[in-house]
Amino acid sequence: MYSQIDVKSKIKDYSIKFEDLSHIIKLSNLPNTVTVIDSNVAHYFPQIGYGFTISVDTNENLKTWDGVKIIFDELLSIKANTNTQLLVIGGGVLQDAVGFCASVFCRGIDYILVPTTLLSQIDSCVGGKTSINYGSRKNILGTFYPPIEIIICEEFLEGLSQENFCSGLGELYKFDILRNKILSSEINELITRKQPVLEHINESLLYKISILEIDEFDKLERKFLNFGHTFGHALEITSNYKLSHGYAVVIGCLIALDVSKSLFGTHIYSKTIEIAKNLLFQTCPIEKDWFDFDKLMECVKSDKKNTGCVNMVLIKDRQPVVQKIEDYSIIKRALENTYEAIRLCN
Ligand SMILES: NC(=O)c1ccc[n+]([C@@H]2O[C@H](COP(=O)([O-])OP(=O)(O)OC[C@H]3O[C@@H](n4cnc5c(N)ncnc54)[C@H](O)[C@@H]3O)[C@@H](O)[C@H]2O)c1
Repeated sequence: MYSQIDVKSKIKDYSIKFEDLSHIIKLSNLPNTVTVIDSNVAHYFPQIGYGFTISVDTNENLKTWDGVKIIFDELLSIKANTNTQLLVIGGGVLQDAVGFCASVFCRGIDYILVPTTLLSQIDSCVGGKTSINYGSRKNILGTFYPPIEIIICEEFLEGLSQENFCSGLGELYKFDILRNKILSSEINELITRKQPVLEHINESLLYKISILEIDEFDKLERKFLNFGHTFGHALEITSNYKLSHGYAVVIGCLIALDVSKSLFGTHIYSKTIEIAKNLLFQTCPIEKDWFDFDKLMECVKSDKKNTGCVNMVLIKDRQPVVQKIEDYSIIKRALENTYEAIRLCN
């Protein structure tokens, strides 16, 4: 078992604990606790949530006004109040949407977060960002509102589909590139699920926390964690969310590396491409239409981190940098190269 990680935050300090399922079951029975659980997780783990339980179907539609309205309506119907504590059990979508609700309901109520996908255990659970999409803009409404506690329970990963598990490895792929660890990356071995992943979850969280402690609110260093996300988010939108978040990030990393190569001569290791292909091999067919230059650029320019221009996190001299891109032909070429590199994955 890994030891507790304490996270220092300017909003409120919190901790990450590694526990087994019996601990989560006990929490779901505490007084004043409302369990909000992903309906798929509830299906696999029916022993959770004997107290007040709200079971929610999760997909990106939950991260909308109409989606969070369902949560607010449920909270009102069970007369939730300032003393109510939420136990949020699900992946990144449930975390973003219910974290958002917790941050504004009664001007903020406590929540314990139990991430159940690999992506949410390895990355999204820490950092306190909550968000919903609005119009065609992803994560455009949101707050910084950390849970009071995060509980990692490895047993949840057993229920994950291979596609979803590999989508989670997409965020580890991003971390491995950022930390210059791609040559020693163990992602190829993890894909087969024959190796335990907990050590990688622990390491990734510690790495992300080391950055949050310097820059919690996305002023500079935390922006580096956005590597692969500029075009990743845009691809999620152009694919109408057929592309899972982690896969979109993998493709976004390849696009950012191609742009880095054009601008700074950054070397792209063959292992970087090989791991991306191995991961993408697990997903749905990649469609050429998603790579349409004009559509992607429209999404990128309206992203909250851009103001009509294109800023990307690139790799220069083995370090991440935030770079404004003036010459769009470099991006166009990167999209073509990346599509060609991955189109035969499925
Ligand atoms: N807040 C942040 O800092 C942050 C960071 C990265 C990503 N995100 C967001 O996270 C979202 C993606 O999260 P995700 O990849 O966890 O997807 P998700 O929450 O949509 O879960 C994916 C699927 O897995 C199912 N599922 C969840 N846990 C399961 C389990 N244990 N067993 C079986 N099925 C299970 C869900 O029902 C869903 O169908 C995106 O919206 C992204 O924007 C947020």
